[in-house]
Amino acid sequence: MSRAAVVCGLGGALPATAVTNEELAAQLDTSDQWIRTRTGIGLRYVVAPGESTSDLAVAAGERALESARRKGGAEAADVDLVVLATSTPDRPCPGTAPGVAHRLGLGTVPAFDVAAVCTGFVYALATAASMITAGVAERALVIGADTFSTILDPVDRTTRAIFGDGAGAVVLRAGESGEPGALLGFDLGSDGGGADLITVRAGGSRQRSTGEPPAPGDEFFAMEGRPVFTQAVINMSESSQRLLDRVGWTPGDLDKVVAHQANVRILHAVGEQLGLEDKQLVVNLDRVGNTVAASIPLALSDAAAGGDLVPGHRVVLTGFGGGLTWGSAALVWPDVEPVTQS
Ligand code: COA
Repeated sequence: MSRAAVVCGLGGALPATAVTNEELAAQLDTSDQWIRTRTGIGLRYVVAPGESTSDLAVAAGERALESARRKGGAEAADVDLVVLATSTPDRPCPGTAPGVAHRLGLGTVPAFDVAAVCTGFVYALATAASMITAGVAERALVIGADTFSTILDPVDRTTRAIFGDGAGAVVLRAGESGEPGALLGFDLGSDGGGADLITVRAGGSRQRSTGEPPAPGDEFFAMEGRPVFTQAVINMSESSQRLLDRVGWTPGDLDKVVAHQANVRILHAVGEQLGLEDKQLVVNLDRVGNTVAASIPLALSDAAAGGDLVPGHRVVLTGFGGGLTWGSAALVWPDVEPVTQS
């Protein structure tokens, strides 16, 4: 057995305002039927005016710490590292994580952001787990939080149908590789050749150094749906399979695959590529949409709270997103009680 990072707390938070497909159809040229059949999404949540990514990150972080305390006592919430995955930071500078750590009362712990869009949570998990196994940290709070409603084009029916706001978080502690909850391995990758497929063109140094104002629409999130769909299926399937080979599991050994919740047709296509049965796939996008970096921890919270994910289950997490980026992680599910309400 060797030193490993072990999952010991889980929390999630959604903003108060739900937006139904019918409400979108009243504003845009779309319908409940189109959105449900093409994406599987029925509902998403959006932040209120003035509410930001850090507000959701703090709520999810508090709940994950409370979840860790329930099984491990007060010491379990004594984290010495915060890693926040987000592509919608409160401000371009500084990072959002130090403010989140401050509001959580965590003192002067190291805190930084990871920007890998929808793969952000898996990248952040790998970063924090590596810092624990290297002995740089003992306990880490890993948060995925995004508020894509703040960067969507209000008249873009495609992106507005898909994306929702939210935050999810886990607590990691130092432990042994043989324990339930130990992160057993990661597979991470990127392909910057596809950077234009998922992007916000304006607002960064490329545009700002021109001294010109952004071209109309360039401040909004833009996505090329079809190639993104194809790449999501290929990269999540291949990344999961590479990780399974490394860990020594087969797809049939898995109880649950918690894939990034972008489109139910993507989830089924990944399942088909890996030869999975539907019952092995966790699906919660019908209730929250694509919550970007929050997607995987929110799906974990929902599955664990609903009894779909139970201690001892063999689990693979797999994500895909802008960059392009992808990443997967494997673990045996531990005895954690998710906290999703204050
Ligand atoms: N309501 C009604 N029609 C819509 C629509 C909506 N909300 N969104 C798109 N359409 C239209 C398109 O304009 C297009 O119309 P046209 O044929 O007149 O041009 C038609 O539906 C088909 O568009 P297409 O893009 O081929 O649809 P699709 O079946 O590929 O579904 C996505 C579109 C975006 C749902 C799908 O491509 C997808 O899920 N892509 C991946 C998105 C994703 O995962 N993003 C995040 C990755 S991290």
